[in-house]
Amino acid sequence: MRKPILIGNWKMNGSLQANQALMVRVLPRLRMFRKSVDLVVCPPHPYLFQVRDLLGYTGIMLGAQNASGFVSGAYTGEVSATMLQEMGCRYALVGHSERRLLFGEGNQEVAARYRSVLQSGLTPVLCVGETLEDRESGRTGLIIEQQLQAVIDEVGLAAMANGIVAYEPVWAIGTGKTATPEQVSEVHQQIRQFLAKSAPESADDISEELRVIYGGSVKVANAYELFSLADVDGGLIGGASLHADEFGTIAGAL
Ligand code: G3H
Repeated sequence: MRKPILIGNWKMNGSLQANQALMVRVLPRLRMFRKSVDLVVCPPHPYLFQVRDLLGYTGIMLGAQNASGFVSGAYTGEVSATMLQEMGCRYALVGHSERRLLFGEGNQEVAARYRSVLQSGLTPVLCVGETLEDRESGRTGLIIEQQLQAVIDEVGLAAMANGIVAYEPVWAIGTGKTATPEQVSEVHQQIRQFLAKSAPESADDISEELRVIYGGSVKVANAYELFSLADVDGGLIGGASLHADEFGTIAGAL
């Protein structure tokens, strides 16, 4: 059985005051679900310490929005996975589409970041997804397979079972457009089939163990339907994770 997981990605939002206010309101709403759902919040790096303290012993976990592919050294502006681990992070996103599209992180770089996260003992959350152009030209499957393959080449398929894959169609992120349940199911199944095909001998294990979650304009109005799909093991939530009532209600949909 795969335990559902809900991850709030705050992106570049927040302030000391706003984070405190959000946590005070959201934690009581989340706490009641923590036994049945893994709950994670990913604030911007400078707030990790503050949010770690606010999370305290609630059982709700801390995650980072990215991690360097390098271990240490002259890499100005980068934050290593080991540093994040020391700050109390348990998870780190890698390959979010905003990193890929706005900051030029390609498949190889994302794979290196994935490896560092894994080696530091954090759980990597590999974000994959197609642009609207990819979808309209029938390249959704190909693009996602390339994104997965780069990580498989870097860490091996077996190691991928220790991570999470987040399917995030780029055209659905922050746009209010959610993928239909049929579109989500189709891609989640394709992801599992691709992994199964990559290692027929351990196919069942990996397809069964790997958590595949959905992200892209998830809100209260669509969370119940999306999370009821057999291949959807949770959500990666952007905008709605900044609103205590909404994020709490979404957690209840899992
Ligand atoms: O990391 C979260 C995703 O990019 C989804 O963002 O819920 O604001 O569409 P969104």
